[in-house]
Amino acid sequence: MADAIGIALLGAGTVGAGVARAIETGAERYSSRVGRPLALRGVLVRDAGRPREGVPSDHLTSEVGSILADEGTHVVVELMGGEEPARQHIESALRSGRHVVTANKEVMAKHGPELLALAAERGVRLLYEAAVGGGIPIISPLSRDLLANEITDVTAIINGTTNFMLTAMAKRGAEYGDVLAEAQRLGYAEADPAADVDGGDAAYKLAILCGLAFHVVVSPEAVSRQGIRGLAARDFAYAQDLGYAIKLLAQGSLLPGPTGAELVATVSPTLIARHEPLATVDGVRNAVQVEGDLVGRVLFEGAGAGARPTASAVLADVLDVARDVATGRLPPEAAPYARAQVRPRERVVARHYLRLTVADRAGVLAGIAGILGRHEISLASVIQVEADSRARTAEIVITTHPAVTGRLDGALTEIAALEGDVPEVGSVLPIYGDGGAR
Ligand code: NAP
Ligand code: HSE
Repeated sequence: MADAIGIALLGAGTVGAGVARAIETGAERYSSRVGRPLALRGVLVRDAGRPREGVPSDHLTSEVGSILADEGTHVVVELMGGEEPARQHIESALRSGRHVVTANKEVMAKHGPELLALAAERGVRLLYEAAVGGGIPIISPLSRDLLANEITDVTAIINGTTNFMLTAMAKRGAEYGDVLAEAQRLGYAEADPAADVDGGDAAYKLAILCGLAFHVVVSPEAVSRQGIRGLAARDFAYAQDLGYAIKLLAQGSLLPGPTGAELVATVSPTLIARHEPLATVDGVRNAVQVEGDLVGRVLFEGAGAGARPTASAVLADVLDVARDVATGRLPPEAAPYARAQVRPRERVVARHYLRLTVADRAGVLAGIAGILGRHEISLASVIQVEADSRARTAEIVITTHPAVTGRLDGALTEIAALEGDVPEVGSVLPIYGDGGAR
């Protein structure tokens, strides 16, 4: 195909193989949408000797040099994952004048600004719709359709693996290990699923979303994060009784601070009132809620992981770039951003849910309430349940009114020091909404 637009894939795993299959099965459709056919030229893998379903074996190579030396390749699609060598390959492809499409949130969160500047300098495009929210269009809406807005808040469920796990734990009472294995089998989890369950994957995605929404450079370290490992089945039951679901929420806000606007960016298992639209986003689905001054509240929802939904987002970028190649359109200039000023976690104001195991004897609850009161933390509700009548322990679940996180940390340090009276400080989770945030 002399006039074909050449595509090379770096990676043929869950997403890469999904993209290769879609290029094959949708060939006619894509050709008519772009005006020229797409042709798969090469596919980089670690083990080129292993056949992969849907990927022609004569295209497989373990030599990135052969991909970059192919003059018929116009677009390099990075679907390897991880920081290195993926970042290096993206840089080399851009330097060689290739357009690049990637689904790699880690590379874009850590190195996005310099790679986008390099792409602009070389007159090529670097697109990354699939890096956040799998199949949900969100990078493009934030970059274009919502550009006229002053965005104040982005609240999202952006990790399919953990949302799948939390939903199964809440609805089926499933065990943590079993649902993680199921998410891995379905191709949702990262190569190292610690990135999913410890909140790192969501933190990368939130850093990317906050950068686009607030027009600042946000490093992933600016995102304070807590994963889902410490959650117990009874947290879901207490949350349910109190009228909440538990979701791994990624929240970004730009708030006035003493010396200018401050970014608050957090990823944490969070109680969210069941009437909130985000509370009903279940399974592998993701959702991103954006608040803008002109548009109000908008919600983007869909499949957040998996081969076909992610291929949809990757191919949208490929087709967009392919049209540029077909028409000779020049890429837009990148707008330079300033680095975000981050509000320290201790100054963030939030409501909280606390679950404590306590000795079941007179004065213990009063002692805990006294410590919280001295730290200016006002209680919204208290539940006490007998936990173990032989050990004479009880479980206390407290929800607080909005309080400064640093004060709560101080109070919890004192409460934990009441060893005999408080054998365990269990879950400490923020509560979203109800005047509860930031
Ligand atoms: P995956 O199944 O682990 O596949 C990775 C592919 O990259 C494999 O084909 C692997 O080769 C190849 N690869 C990795 N390191 C390599 C190296 N050093 N040299 C050559 N080839 C290498 O990963 P995935 O789930 O498809 O994810 C790919 C990317 O998409 C990641 O950035 C991920 O975060 C992102 N993403 C994934 C999903 C999802 O649902 N899975 C959704 C959205 C975004 P071998 O096959 O030879 O090992
Ligand atoms: N591991 C990621 C998730 C893949 O579960 O959301 C999509 O980025």
